[in-house]
This record gives sequence, structure tokens and C-alpha cells, in this order.
Amino acid sequence: MKILIHTFGCQMNKLDSELVAEALVAAGHEIVADEAEANAILFNTCSVRDHAEQRVLSRIAHLRARKKAEPDLRLGVMGCMAQRLARELFDKAPHLDLVCGTRKFPQIAELLEQSFAGPVLAVEEESLTAPGTLDAHGRSLFSGIQAYISIMRGCNNFCTYCIVPYVRGREESRPIAAVVGEARALVSRGAKEITLLGQNVDAYGKDIGSSLAELLREVDKVEDFVRMRFVTSHPKDITEELVKTVAALPRVCNHFHMPAQSGSTKMLKAMNRGYTREEYDRRLEIIAKHCPGALVTSDFIVGFPDEADEDHEQSVELIKAAKFQNSYVFKYSPRPGTVAEKKLVDNAPEEVKKQRNHELLSAQEEVNCARSASLVGSTQEIMVEGISRRDKTRMTGRTSNNLICVFPAPEDAEALVGKLVTLKINACGALTLIGELQSR
Ligand code: SAH
Ligand code: SF4
Ligand code: F3S
Repeated sequence: MKILIHTFGCQMNKLDSELVAEALVAAGHEIVADEAEANAILFNTCSVRDHAEQRVLSRIAHLRARKKAEPDLRLGVMGCMAQRLARELFDKAPHLDLVCGTRKFPQIAELLEQSFAGPVLAVEEESLTAPGTLDAHGRSLFSGIQAYISIMRGCNNFCTYCIVPYVRGREESRPIAAVVGEARALVSRGAKEITLLGQNVDAYGKDIGSSLAELLREVDKVEDFVRMRFVTSHPKDITEELVKTVAALPRVCNHFHMPAQSGSTKMLKAMNRGYTREEYDRRLEIIAKHCPGALVTSDFIVGFPDEADEDHEQSVELIKAAKFQNSYVFKYSPRPGTVAEKKLVDNAPEEVKKQRNHELLSAQEEVNCARSASLVGSTQEIMVEGISRRDKTRMTGRTSNNLICVFPAPEDAEALVGKLVTLKINACGALTLIGELQSR
């Protein structure tokens, strides 16, 4: 079969799609990029907000006519939404052939084959909590010089708004040796930047008597890569030891994606985040103390039930005080089955959510513009990632603390990819520093 995989959602899903693609190729199928050419279309889906689900459902609805004309066309939904809705997906889209949950990916080729005999539902519920399933799911994604390695699966935190623990199951860490082995293999294939991935990487190792700090030290023993990153950090689990380890290992980037969600302790409590505003501020201080120059990126949810103006103001104020590298802002979307959806009323009107969304984004933009302007005239070390997608005459890369930089591509552009170079910054946009090569 010629199979197209559409991927929605987070980095974890991109890795899962890679795993699925590998399994399908191993079974003799071909992965294609053009929908018209494909005779099987798979959607790897996200359930984190209602909007993410609606987008997929409308894409699938659009395929109804084609499915009628081509009954052999295979249509499948996999991943988080498949896990959450299971059988219900067949009611919403009766022309589907396959619904494959988050722990059934390795069997995908078989399941697709079976679907010629009738619709297949493969969603395992029990194994979501059963340990020991992980190494079959161990995987990494490699594109160009950037490689991603999943170091753990699942989440134990049950933030009251969040569907992830329900669709991804409990936290499970991969053994250090497996991660290091994968890092070594990726580096030997040319990877220069390794990103370690998990919903809550600071909890890495709790179940196997290890820690993220230890993992960073072990991966750092691999030679010949340039940089290492890790996402996502949970404020409640980030430790001083981890921050000190980041400071002590020069190849580990000075950047923490540590979502606050809100600047108000009252909201943090209602969200079951496990920290107060003061504790979040304390984490920022620890980062500033041990890793001067490090930047933090955050996520925020606006319009969570009972969020008052004063709560929202505290989020605005947090963005200004923390001077985040960037903030991603989401309008609260009740997820069926979560505590917030069952016990709280989604009482912020859409208008209020929109307004607050806008206010947080403009506070962040102010921070970005001020920071970028203050860096004009400075020199910055970046790792060159490649030719800019927007402008082929430019190259792009990032500083250790995650600031995006562009500079005119020299004639030997290719030779710079994956290398550390120094730029003299001479102009800027809100989120981009524009410079010229100073030394390589
Ligand atoms: N594990 C990560 C986040 C995973 S989901 C963490 O804890 O930080 C990515 C982001 O989506 C979250 O940080 C949150 O800001 C947002 N999000 C999750 N559930 C949401 C919901 N029901 N409505 C709106 N935003 C949500
Ligand atoms: Fe969701 Fe909270 Fe887990 Fe992040 S830590 S995935 S927001 S439950
Ligand atoms: Fe990721 Fe969305 Fe699932 S954020 S874990 S794809 S619900």
C-alpha cells in the first residue's frame, strides 16, 4: 500500500508517527506525501483541546466521498484521540476502517491488513497502567542534524484540565542504557543536536531509581554531538541538582520549557499543578542563580473556570517579571472525563478567553521586543541549523537559550550546518535576531 500519515499534536506524536512509518515500511508498504496518490490515509491525533479534535474530524469528513468511490481506500485514526474516543469514533465517522490507540502502534501493519475484513478497533485500556511495555515503543526521530529521543512515556500528574494522563497512561522511564545507545546511534548517523522528550522529563527515572540529571551526564559521555536539549520541565519536579547539572555540562542548552499555566496560586491550586506562585518564582530564582543567561519558556491557560480579573493580572505580571523566552497561550477547553470538566463550570465567555489570550500574548511580545532590541550590537554563539525556510538567502540557528538567529548564507553554507558560529547581531524582529557571521 501507499500510505500517508498526517500528524497532529506534540513532539511525542511525531515520534510515534515515525515508529508507525518504520513498522509499515518493514511490512513492505510505502510512505507517501501526496494524499491523491495514497491508498491508505492515517491520522495520528491529539486530544489536548477540542479544537485539535474538530480539525481532524473535519479532515476525515472531507474524505467521505472519496471513500465511497474507492471502497478499498483505508482510513485510520490513531493516537490520543483514538485512545480517548475508541468506539465512538466509528459513530462520528462511519467510513473509518481503523481506530488504533496509543499502545497499539507496533501492530499497525497487521491491523491495517485486518481492516479489509471489516472495521478494526484496537484500543487497549488496561495496559495504559501496566509497566514494561515501553521498550517496544522506544524510538527516536531524526531529520537533518536534529534528533529527538523519547525518554519516557505518560504522565502521573493529573492536572485537572488535562487529558494526557488518560490517553497516554502512567509515567514510565526508558532505561538509561537504551537512551544512551540510541543517542550514540543517532550521532553516528550525523545528529548534532539531541532533544530528550517526555511530558514531564523532570520525573525521569523516579520509577527506575535514576534522575534526569544522571541521564544528562550519561548522554553527555557520547562524543561528537554539539548540543543537547530536554522538554518539558514541570515546575514541581525540577530540582536544584538538575539546574546545576545543566550549568556544569556545556553542551546542555541553557533553556527550560517550564510551563507556569497561571501566575495565580488560586488558579494553580484549582488546576492541581502542585506548586504555588511563590514556588514557581523560587524555581526561576534557582535557574537564574546557577545558569545565568538561561531563558525559560512557558505555557498559559486563559479562562480556566473561575479565573477572575485579578488572577489573570497575575499571569500578565508573571510574563513581565519572568521575561520568558516565549509563552504559548491556550484558551481553556474542557476535556471530557477530566476533573475540571466534571466538577467545574466552564464559565469564562469566549470573548473573555479571547481578550485574555490577546493580553498575555501582547505582554509576551513586549518582553520579546525589549529583549531583542537589547541584544542588537551583541555577539551570539549559535548552532547553525540550515537554510531558512522563509528566505533561501539566509541561514538560521539558535542560541543555547533558544533565541532564533538568522544571517546571510555564505557560499559554503552547507559546511556550516551543525557547527557553532559567532554572529554579530545588527538588527532584530520580535522573535528573531538578525546578524552577520563574525567567526566560525
Ligand atoms: N506536559 C506538559 C504539557 C502538555 S500539553 C506540561 O505539563 O507542561 C501542552 C499544553 O497544552 C499545556 O502546557 C497546557 O498549557 C495546554 N493544555 C493542556 N490541556 C488543556 C486544556 N484542556 N485546555 C487548554 N489548554 C490545555
Ligand atoms: Fe497534562 Fe499536567 Fe501531565 Fe502536563 S503535567 S501532561 S499538563 S497532566
Ligand atoms: Fe501530545 Fe496531544 Fe496526545 S499534546 S500526548 S498528542 S493529547
